[in-house]
Amino acid sequence: MSGKGLVVVTGASSGFGAATALRFAAIGHALYLGARRLERLREVARQCRSAGAPEVEARALDVRSKESIDAFCAGAGTPAVLLNNAGLALGRDTVEKITEADLLGMVETNVIGLVRVTRGFLPRMIEARRGHIVNLGSYAARGVYEGGAVYAATKHSVRVISETLRLELSETNIRVTEIDPGLAETEFSLVRLGDEEKAKEVYRGMQPLTADDVADAIVWAVTRPPHVNISELVMTPTAQASLTKVHREP
Ligand SMILES: NC(=O)c1ccc[n+]([C@@H]2O[C@H](COP(=O)([O-])OP(=O)(O)OC[C@H]3O[C@@H](n4cnc5c(N)ncnc54)[C@H](OP(=O)(O)O)[C@@H]3O)[C@@H](O)[C@H]2O)c1
Repeated sequence: MSGKGLVVVTGASSGFGAATALRFAAIGHALYLGARRLERLREVARQCRSAGAPEVEARALDVRSKESIDAFCAGAGTPAVLLNNAGLALGRDTVEKITEADLLGMVETNVIGLVRVTRGFLPRMIEARRGHIVNLGSYAARGVYEGGAVYAATKHSVRVISETLRLELSETNIRVTEIDPGLAETEFSLVRLGDEEKAKEVYRGMQPLTADDVADAIVWAVTRPPHVNISELVMTPTAQASLTKVHREP
């Protein structure tokens, strides 16, 4: 792939991943996009071409499958930017009640998948002595809340992985940024709660972040001069003061 620099995005079929792909497209980057819902992903790829991306490839990717990750990584060139965005929360159950499916779903997607994708691309980036890894953490990487033990644990893990990568890659010229957003209205709550009404309730009476707000922050971090590394960026809606305190208008 040619172009201004290849941007690889996992979980590009909706939310932050799709919005960030579009913003990178608009500033002339080539894109390599992955997600499970291929039709949705192809639509995002089409929009990226219209927005100005010189080349766009959409590939099926399930970050819970090592084989799928291996095939995805093998199909791309050397990323200028690797956006590890694919992730999810499943349910709001307590530790006492959490199902096996939700537990494995979150750990395999948010932690194991992220490490495997990073491991898949890193040798090429180290060889090239350039690149930028952007990991989607969460405000939940910085605290805890009832019903969120495993999701928060996976995002604390992402933060630890980002910090460790910064140490391990300090001689390679590769930058590592973690983006930690608070409440953002995407498909996240629908995936988590499985119900439109319950998902809407999460954002009742307040103005959440949008996918584009987060995309804007990611592109800003990546477009700083090469000697500047934005290590961590925490962003919340103005109405969100903590993981458990959100001001809502009646
Ligand atoms: N929205 C929030 O409030 C919020 C706040 C902080 C952090 N985050 C984090 O931000 C990231 C993006 O979330 P979002 O808000 O944009 O939610 P979203 O709209 O639900 O998007 C999630 C993306 O991840 C992909 N994905 C999920 N499981 C995958 C798998 N096994 N393999 C490949 N791709 C997978 C989905 O694609 P497919 O389903 O097509 O595979 C989708 O493109 C996640 O890591 C999330 O934890 C979200």
